[in-house]
Amino acid sequence: MRVYLRADELDFRLSDLPDSKGTKRILMCTPDYFDVTEAINEFMYERQGDAIILNKVDRCRAVAQWNYLKDLYCSLGYQVELVSGPYGLEDAVFCANQSFPFLNPETGDREVVMSIMRKPKRKKEVAYFEAWYKNEGYKIHYLRDCSFEAQGDAVWFPGKNLIIAGYGSTEYHRTDLEALRQVAAITKIPVIGIHLTHRDFYHLNTTLCLVSSKTCVVYPEGVGQEGMTILRQLFQNVIEVPKEEAYAPNFACNAFSPDGRVVLIQHSCAKTIKALEDLGYIVLRVDTSEFIKSGGSVFCMKMMVY
Ligand code: ARG
Repeated sequence: MRVYLRADELDFRLSDLPDSKGTKRILMCTPDYFDVTEAINEFMYERQGDAIILNKVDRCRAVAQWNYLKDLYCSLGYQVELVSGPYGLEDAVFCANQSFPFLNPETGDREVVMSIMRKPKRKKEVAYFEAWYKNEGYKIHYLRDCSFEAQGDAVWFPGKNLIIAGYGSTEYHRTDLEALRQVAAITKIPVIGIHLTHRDFYHLNTTLCLVSSKTCVVYPEGVGQEGMTILRQLFQNVIEVPKEEAYAPNFACNAFSPDGRVVLIQHSCAKTIKALEDLGYIVLRVDTSEFIKSGGSVFCMKMMVY
């Protein structure tokens, strides 16, 4: 299947693509060992003169925030599945990153592509998620010679069998273009690649949120001009997030809509929230401040599974 990299290459209409099947199951990973002890992205520390000061996590608050999110999904009618946060793996709670589950478009079978994490500190997380999928009977696929951080970068166009995926530099970003080629071939689902252009926005989901088939929320600096052209071609409403809401402690683009109507977002993103409410979305304000200290918010802390 093809990987599209420019707006003028898009040779299909969204209405021609098959609809995707929704799901009411959400996978989360318990925050048992969540912490910030090593900075692997630009949001995890502060510079004070020459010194680097790691963000300090309040672990009790983190657990309370995570529980609130989990309960919210339950009250919205989702079935939450859990992987136990493995000992010593402080970033495992960001379970958007280790796996990319999909339904085979020909057979409807449950399959998953396992990630190859860019950062050495996160590589061991993948096996714990693989074990969960094996137990569920998923067919497991592996990538070769590249980095791929799953829904950190590869997200579903809402309601369609179409993947929108970020890729960028080895130094600052997590997914390689080569990974997108392999994912398109394995899933047999088309991929639109968006070149990540800002070193701070290391995953696509830190700079873009696909809210519904009509609306996306984006920090334009993160996706560059070509990315913006692609988004304008795909979406009726492109909400541009101001710089102060794109950055910590707000992280507006890491919002998540499980159904295209309700949007979960960090409560402090006032302008983005107003723009969403003006368009009729039901905004549920949550507090993920402890996780934003690690460079992640709502979107990173779940995986829709089948
Ligand atoms: N500290 C984690 C990392 O840098 C945060 C991951 C957040 N996840 C996300 N999908 N943006 O890898």
